[in-house]
Amino acid sequence: MNHLIAPSILAADFANLQRDIELINKSDADWIHVDIMDGMFVPNISFGFPVVTAVKKHAAKPLDVHLMIVDPDRYLKNFKEAGAAGMTVHYEACPNLHRTVQYIKELGCRAGVALNPHTPVALLEDIIGELDMVLIMSVNPGFGGQKFIENTYKKLKDIKELSSRKKPGLYIEVDGGVDGSNAAKLVEAGANVLVAGNSVFSTPDPSVAITNLKKSGALSLS
Ligand code: DX5
Ligand code: ZN
Repeated sequence: MNHLIAPSILAADFANLQRDIELINKSDADWIHVDIMDGMFVPNISFGFPVVTAVKKHAAKPLDVHLMIVDPDRYLKNFKEAGAAGMTVHYEACPNLHRTVQYIKELGCRAGVALNPHTPVALLEDIIGELDMVLIMSVNPGFGGQKFIENTYKKLKDIKELSSRKKPGLYIEVDGGVDGSNAAKLVEAGANVLVAGNSVFSTPDPSVAITNLKKSGALSLS
């Protein structure tokens, strides 16, 4: 499978959100990455249900909702109703992760689990079979525009190995500090979904940046 691109609207212009969503609609992007932060799990607050509902109204691509919140079970139904196609919860925020994952699937959404930079892939050994996606955080969650953490490559190697042993076809998403300088290497290491915020929206032509990310790594496969 060719890798997917999920631009993160955290880096979009919130005063022109409809314009930026329409730009993504017309681009080579596959999903729209939606970052939800609660000021508790991470030291920042992003936006809530009304904004996700408004985004969904204009989005022609699936919403990939990344929940950086404590006790996400409280809000999964609301995010489904707001338009989430996939929901990713944090391993570190879910004491009853198996139950949370089942609930996401019961709601008819793709179920993902995110790992913070300090959380080893090995902890997913007994849940991997239930998951549609694993999100490897390549920065500490909470803010866009941070520096990429190099240990991500090792974690991608670990999740790729676990996936080929126990869950072929798993989406392996990488999130944080992804840009043209590391995209090809990330795909080579096992990522098949690239999230990109600033490297898309802080450029003069975001749609060109998306196309370039989409092409990254594809060449090295030939
Ligand atoms: C960080 C978020 C990311 C963020 C990525 O906590 O989960 O999705 O938007 O932004 P960049 O690509 O700018 O690092
Ligand atoms: Zn994210």
